[in-house]
Amino acid sequence: MSVLSGKNIILGVTAGIAAYKSAFLIRLLIKKGAKVKVVMTPASKEFVTPLTLSTLSKNEVFSSFTSDEDDNVQWNNHVDIAEWGDLFIIAPATANTMSKMVSGTCDNLLLAVYLSAKCPVYFAPAMDLDMYQHPSTKESFKKLNDFGNFQIPAEIGELASGLSGMGRMAEPENIVSFVEKNILDQLPLKNKCILITAGPTYESIDPVRFIGNHSSGKMGYALAEAATHLGAQVKLISGPVSLQNFNEAIHVIHVNTAEEMYNASHKYFKTCDIAILSAAVADFTPKRVATQKIKKVEDSLAIELTKTKDILTSFGNIKDNQFLVGFALETENEIENAKTKLIKKKLDLIVLNSLNDKGAGFQHDTNKVTLISKDNKVTAYGVKPKSEVAHDILNYIIREIHV
Ligand code: CTP
Repeated sequence: MSVLSGKNIILGVTAGIAAYKSAFLIRLLIKKGAKVKVVMTPASKEFVTPLTLSTLSKNEVFSSFTSDEDDNVQWNNHVDIAEWGDLFIIAPATANTMSKMVSGTCDNLLLAVYLSAKCPVYFAPAMDLDMYQHPSTKESFKKLNDFGNFQIPAEIGELASGLSGMGRMAEPENIVSFVEKNILDQLPLKNKCILITAGPTYESIDPVRFIGNHSSGKMGYALAEAATHLGAQVKLISGPVSLQNFNEAIHVIHVNTAEEMYNASHKYFKTCDIAILSAAVADFTPKRVATQKIKKVEDSLAIELTKTKDILTSFGNIKDNQFLVGFALETENEIENAKTKLIKKKLDLIVLNSLNDKGAGFQHDTNKVTLISKDNKVTAYGVKPKSEVAHDILNYIIREIHV
């Protein structure tokens, strides 16, 4: 899945012949799963029609501060457009528009959106080779880069003038790959490997029965999804759950028992940077698994249980530089019990769920957590969807490990 999936992208189109390529660029962005809104300079409409760009983007195209609808004048609010965008790509960016972006000139809607935009701005210059080499253009490039915008390098080739050289707008495919790579390079968990355990474990009694628990795995899967979005490589060791993993970037290892989860987790722990153990691992497992289905001949049945290996404790004992996170589900003396667990299992962070909190714990789509760090910092969060809780936990970890 592309990092552009689900992103709101404002595409700024200025008056260069390369504006015809904006149509292809929109199609590529939409194929990547992005939503696109186009803002054009008035002169760019000579090069490509708003109808084409509106049809491809499936959105209204904006080119002036107001639009006339049956004598009903509407204001195209540049601030609203700018706030909508997660990214602003100006392609093609002419020498004229770049110079105005440098000076803060604001004589069209595109420039007003640029000045209002708080999101990352990319610009893809397009002009003839001599214009491209001109010191004033070079000055524009320098200033725009200094302002924190991202320049998508122009390419060498045939130009509209008939000359050949540097100045062609980057091909739409190259614009898309540039933006994708740029986003990936800035993700806070880039190059980090995260091990996550999720769901329950099933401990067999006989060929048809097991001891399990109510864990749905939702919290662990939400963590895996969020970590992937933040650039991490995720190994998700999952107990039996009915959830689907739609994100192909997540490497899921399916297990059933506590023993299998222990072995699978240890395979990846040494090479991971962060381990988050959210699984509800069975603490006990039947000492013997009956080879045949147990018949109800007796009035009572005793099953002898033996302790499982504690994965989290074993990690605490062997960890080098890994940031180790455990979960604690408590019903009383929550903070004290969680702190004890944190110390006993040598954790860097513990995520406390209290069964007394509404909207927290097993099966819910929401959770309410308190994070306790090894230096005794206690941070409580409100009830939120598990996807947001996952981001809270990961953002906390990112701050702690200063990546
Ligand atoms: N855990 C583990 N391996 C186990 C048992 C638990 O990795 N065999 C991890 C869980 O994934 C979770 C944390 O340990 O991160 C929970 O700690 P634990 O002491 O098992 O909590 P409880 O089961 O709540 O313990 P207790 O019943 O003693 O409160």
